[in-house]
Amino acid sequence: MNRTPPLGPRGPGRLALLVCVVLVGAAGCLYPGADVPYVQTPSDVVTEMLKLAGVKATDVVYDLGSGDGRIVIAAARDFGARGVGIEIDPGLVAYSRELAQKAGVADRVTFRSDDLFETNLSDATVVTLYLSYDMNQRLRPKLLRELRPGSRIVSHDFDMGPDWLPDQTIQVTWRDRKSYVFLWVVPPKS
Ligand SMILES: C[S@@+](CC[C@H](N)C(=O)[O-])C[C@H]1O[C@@H](n2cnc3c(N)ncnc32)[C@H](O)[C@@H]1O
Repeated sequence: MNRTPPLGPRGPGRLALLVCVVLVGAAGCLYPGADVPYVQTPSDVVTEMLKLAGVKATDVVYDLGSGDGRIVIAAARDFGARGVGIEIDPGLVAYSRELAQKAGVADRVTFRSDDLFETNLSDATVVTLYLSYDMNQRLRPKLLRELRPGSRIVSHDFDMGPDWLPDQTIQVTWRDRKSYVFLWVVPPKS
C-alpha cells in the first residue's frame, strides 16, 4: 500500500520546525543547540543601537547571535563599518549572506555559523547583543577579557546585572511598544 509522505522537512530541520511551532507567539524559533530563540530586533531599534554605540567607518561590529544579519548589515550599509555576525543556525547564516549581497555590503560583512561562546572577539570594537539576561551574565567575563578598553557593547532589552551597570540607557518606541537599549564602554584593564 502506498502511503502519503509526511509534510515538511525530515531530520534536524523537522525538529527545528517543531520547536518553532511550540514557541511561536510567545518567543520565537529555537534552533537545536541554541541558547535563546530567534527573535528579530525591529529596524528602528537597530538604528538606535548603532547610534548609541557611536558606530563609524573604522569600527568592526560583532553581533553575537546575529539572526538574519540585520544589525551587521545596517552597520555596514548605514554607518560604513565592517561587520561580523556569529550565528549558530546555518540556515540563518546563509540567509544573512543573501541579504548582505542584496544590500550591496557583502564585501564588508562576514557571517559565521559558530557558537558565540567559542568565538574570539579580540578584533571587535563594537559588540551588539539581543540574547537574554542569563546569557549576558555568562558572557560578561569573556567580553571584559577579550575586548580592548574603549570598545562599546550595546544590548537590546537585557542588561548585565548589578555588577556591571550600563554607562547609558535609552528607551526606543516602535509601533505601540517600547524597547530598552543599554550601552557599556569596556574599562581599562586593572
Ligand atoms: C533573539 S535572536 C537575535 C537576532 C539578531 N541579533 C537581532 O537582534 O535581530 C538570538 C539569536 O542568537 C542565536 N543563538 C542562540 N544561541 C547561540 C549560540 N550559543 N551561539 C550563536 N548563536 C546563538 C539564535 O539562533 C538567534 O538567531
